[in-house]
Amino acid sequence: MKIAVNTGGGDAPGLNAVIRAVTLSAARRGIEVWGIKYGYRGLLSGEEHGLVRLDRDAVRGITHIGGTILGSANRDDPYRFPVEKNGEMVPTDVSADLVRTFKQKGFDALIAIGGDGSLKLAGKLLEAGLPRVIGVPKTIDNDIVGTDVSFGFETAVTTATDAIDKLHSTAQSHERVMVVEVMGRNAGWIALHSGISGTADAILILEISYSLEAVCEKIRSRERRGRHFSIVVVAEGALPLGGAPLYKQEHGKFNEHRQLGGVAERVATDIERMTGKETRSLVLGHLQRGGGPITSDRLLALRLGCGATHFAAEARHSGMIAIRNGDIQVVPLEEATDGTRCVPLDHGILQTGRDLGISFGDELKGTFLGSILPPAPRPAGR
Ligand code: F6P
Repeated sequence: MKIAVNTGGGDAPGLNAVIRAVTLSAARRGIEVWGIKYGYRGLLSGEEHGLVRLDRDAVRGITHIGGTILGSANRDDPYRFPVEKNGEMVPTDVSADLVRTFKQKGFDALIAIGGDGSLKLAGKLLEAGLPRVIGVPKTIDNDIVGTDVSFGFETAVTTATDAIDKLHSTAQSHERVMVVEVMGRNAGWIALHSGISGTADAILILEISYSLEAVCEKIRSRERRGRHFSIVVVAEGALPLGGAPLYKQEHGKFNEHRQLGGVAERVATDIERMTGKETRSLVLGHLQRGGGPITSDRLLALRLGCGATHFAAEARHSGMIAIRNGDIQVVPLEEATDGTRCVPLDHGILQTGRDLGISFGDELKGTFLGSILPPAPRPAGR
């Protein structure tokens, strides 16, 4: 058996651990493993070293290292692949070439380590003729349906929590409000977990549209109690009541995703105007994706990688390797890529935040603004 592994889309701490686990567990079963460099590019562009043999030597000492030894790309969509025509790069459907090359190389299965976008793409390629796809859920956003958790998330949360911890002392010294923007795309998991662990005073997630007046009231109530600083954690996709998320860049012509960004700055400007308190904003950005995986992510990544090889060897169909109730399971790819796993409004951790007195921007003078919230995104997973 011969399998190919790729890592497309945004990187996440733990990718190398998955690659190592797939390679070592495959070697024990006599399965040959190859890595596709830069998403699908290594297979499509005919570049020298676009495909690399993954053996014990190739994956030595990489479990704890961030990033991916295979590289990633946000311009590797085979349905809108950059191809030069008359001196210009033009989006072109090369999916049929990809499927043909994959088969010509003799691969029996693709192990696609990816987030929802990459897994969807792999599903589409399966329909287009790839023999078999085994997905491994990767994203710091933790928003993949069908798995309780994706690797990279806990590391990103730890980075964000450390940053929030550090902001407390400077916020306190200057008696300022600090507004921190964290990643998470269309789900508020990173903001929720890091905000509660970092003892934020307000957490704004896109699942709960916020009222700025409610956030300012929280800040003023702290002032009245002699707490002259506040920390507000904002998910990059958060939106005000009746408003829309902020994008700093639209979809690119090669299907690069829309980039969220700018909400912290906007919230900070409004808080300063409405409370008169000096307010600063910062964006944690790609720091959250950087560095090596923490222990729980390493373990999760290693388990998922070995799970992918087990499944490759023991079954004949496609699916995504998931963690459910602590166990490795296989879920249908269509199920795993059907929607976004958002924070359910009755989630226990959200309730913990409320019990701790953290504002989610939806409560004003004892009145819950729930009735005027837009419909909650479809909750999925737990
Ligand atoms: O999906 C992972 C993620 O880090 C999101 O949290 C963020 O919105 C996006 O990717 C950033 O993507 P890029 O690397 O293209 O800036």
